[in-house]
Amino acid sequence: MRRVTTTSPDLWHHYGRTRATADRTVPERIHWTWGQDSGPGAEVLGDITGRCVGDLGAGAGRHAAHLAVHHDPARVDAVDASAAQYAMAVDLYGHLTSRLRLVHADVTAHLRAKESRYDVLYSLFGAADFTDPRALLPAAAAALRLGGLLVIATLAHYPSGEAAEADVVHADIPAKGPDGEPATMRRWVLQEHVWTKVCDEAGLTRVSIDVLPGPGSGPRLADTLLVRAYRSRAREDSPTHRPEREIPRVRGT
Ligand SMILES: C[S@@+](CC[C@H](N)C(=O)[O-])C[C@H]1O[C@@H](n2cnc3c(N)ncnc32)[C@H](O)[C@@H]1O
Repeated sequence: MRRVTTTSPDLWHHYGRTRATADRTVPERIHWTWGQDSGPGAEVLGDITGRCVGDLGAGAGRHAAHLAVHHDPARVDAVDASAAQYAMAVDLYGHLTSRLRLVHADVTAHLRAKESRYDVLYSLFGAADFTDPRALLPAAAAALRLGGLLVIATLAHYPSGEAAEADVVHADIPAKGPDGEPATMRRWVLQEHVWTKVCDEAGLTRVSIDVLPGPGSGPRLADTLLVRAYRSRAREDSPTHRPEREIPRVRGT
């Protein structure tokens, strides 16, 4: 009997493609807002000098490239499940530096194989928006070292203005396959208290959430939730424990 293998279409085939042909630079700074043009920058992650960092749903790797080039980390792993995004990242930044590692993988699977590996993990409108947080957050918690930081920039409400969900439920949002064929993908747009709850349930502590307001006008108006949480320090006196650096609070734009 012939075995038929089917693969689902890459719904991120088109994302960032036009920009990739025109802009091959390493960004001078990163922004955590939905509009990607204002608000706090890399300082949100604290001092990452010599630290091991993971970008969850890195797309073409622009943010990870910025951190690797401008912030002296030990390493930034830019992880993305999309073959198209991974190929774009390799094309743009594959040559860049040994500090930037481009990884083609589902983030939950990647994190499950990397216990206590990272000092800082972040998702900038990345995998945390498109993956069930009840699977992703426990994997992220386990992949962080004690005292490690997780940062998520995500939508505070739907771009239409409709309120975020009051429970852990996803929306099916319209998407396109590589040939333009219509499809849907799952997106988790959750209220602040829901993020707090799923972080708590994942074993993350000291959860704080800032609302970064969107611009007054323009196409990308939505507000951003900036979620931060830590892997609790179960063993403060561990000989391998490195003291956590103070992370400044962030104000809106
Ligand atoms: C909106 S794009 C953002 C990309 C990048 N963070 C940026 O700001 O340019 C979302 C990315 O998350 C990736 N992604 C979504 N779910 C993922 C998962 N479970 N594992 C790995 N990557 C994922 C997609 O492939 C896509 O490249």
